[in-house]
Amino acid sequence: MAGSRGRFASRLGFILAAAGSAVGLGNVWKFPYLAGAHGGAVFLIVYLGFVFTIGISVMLAEFAIGRAGEKNPVGAFKHLKGGAWTGVGYLGVVGSCVILSFYSVVGGWTIAYAVKTAAGMPGLTDAKAFGGAFAAFVADPLQPVLYHLAFMAMTIAIVARGIERGIERACRLLMPLLFVIVVVLCARSLTLPGAMAGIKFFLNPDFSKLTGAMVTAALGQAFFSLSLGMGSMITLGSYLSRQTHLAGSALWVTSLDTLIAILAGFMILPAVFAFGFDPGAGPGLSFITLPAVFAKMPWGAGFGTLFFVLLAVAALTSAFSLLEVVVAFLVDEKGWTRAKAAYGAGAAIFLLGVPSSLSFGAWELKLFGKGFFELMDYAASNVMLPLGGVLIALFVGWVVSPRIMAETAGEDGRSFSLAPAWRVICRYVAPLAIAWVLISGL
Ligand code: PHE
Repeated sequence: MAGSRGRFASRLGFILAAAGSAVGLGNVWKFPYLAGAHGGAVFLIVYLGFVFTIGISVMLAEFAIGRAGEKNPVGAFKHLKGGAWTGVGYLGVVGSCVILSFYSVVGGWTIAYAVKTAAGMPGLTDAKAFGGAFAAFVADPLQPVLYHLAFMAMTIAIVARGIERGIERACRLLMPLLFVIVVVLCARSLTLPGAMAGIKFFLNPDFSKLTGAMVTAALGQAFFSLSLGMGSMITLGSYLSRQTHLAGSALWVTSLDTLIAILAGFMILPAVFAFGFDPGAGPGLSFITLPAVFAKMPWGAGFGTLFFVLLAVAALTSAFSLLEVVVAFLVDEKGWTRAKAAYGAGAAIFLLGVPSSLSFGAWELKLFGKGFFELMDYAASNVMLPLGGVLIALFVGWVVSPRIMAETAGEDGRSFSLAPAWRVICRYVAPLAIAWVLISGL
């Protein structure tokens, strides 16, 4: 049975696919800006604390649920317990559709900017001019929608090919490429005259910023960045061989994701400082401030293109795992062929993303006082993702604990050395901490 669903050919392939899911726009675009806005090193310390306690624990829980259930999130919860718990699986499938719909819009922007930067943006020099160009681009009714379509088409093409020939092969190629680009751009940024101010800004702890809002932001970011709470890691885990050691894999994926986030900080902040821009520019940092930075840099068009290729690759490998959740659901539960599921779900998610894309100016659609894009992002990041996280931790900690503990034990049947701590985190620490983030986010 499991054979016909497909399977990762190697542990390395699995780790690269899971790291591909984790490493995304959250690392390169959001993390440096959040660290900048929330006190630099203080944010980093709190973030690391969450990642290596709660984050890694929930990731391991997801891997174990997936492999024990050998199914998509809905099938896995049904198989392990059933009843109302199956709802957690549905939350993951719906949440993945919602996240992918707006994630793909931003993914489209990254492709557009890779193309635009390569072609050169003549006449634009300062951040203000780039800000105007960006606002005009996203408000256009057609262009961004076409790039969103291109991004979805690439995602569909890879996912339709299956686990081993599609996602695993693509991630084996793209993840090392991503790593090389990050290292090249870091080297460039760190050797700019004036880079030191950015390094200081990133690593200087500003303890006055240690507030409740910052702690909430750090935990929310840990969840989003590690792709938790939406069933992505459950789904990838369902294609794992029995021999793979789960705790070790979770440590690898968590560490790679963290490494790339920190390198992204060293890549972006020194360059922003060296050219006198505002690091707190927020969402506009990647698309407004950085193009202005590249415009002032020798060989800027080349480095700029490389940067947007990096963003596009990071976004794509995350998108694979989001579409895979929905495809696995349609294949396992509804008996669709993989190709039909990938094209069908991909097309529907593309359509759901269109209003998000248009909400930047072409179509003033407001719901609950928020633009459509903002609403989708809010519902997924502030509600569905933490809710999924709480329920997954409770499920593993209380409901199916012995079964899941056995799943994480090694070949010899012995559990890993930190298993007792893991259980305490799943039972008490993670649900309480995430529930707090959920409530303060509402
Ligand atoms: N982890 C991805 C990022 O950092 C986003 C993501 C969230 C992917 C949830 C899958 C599931 O960009």
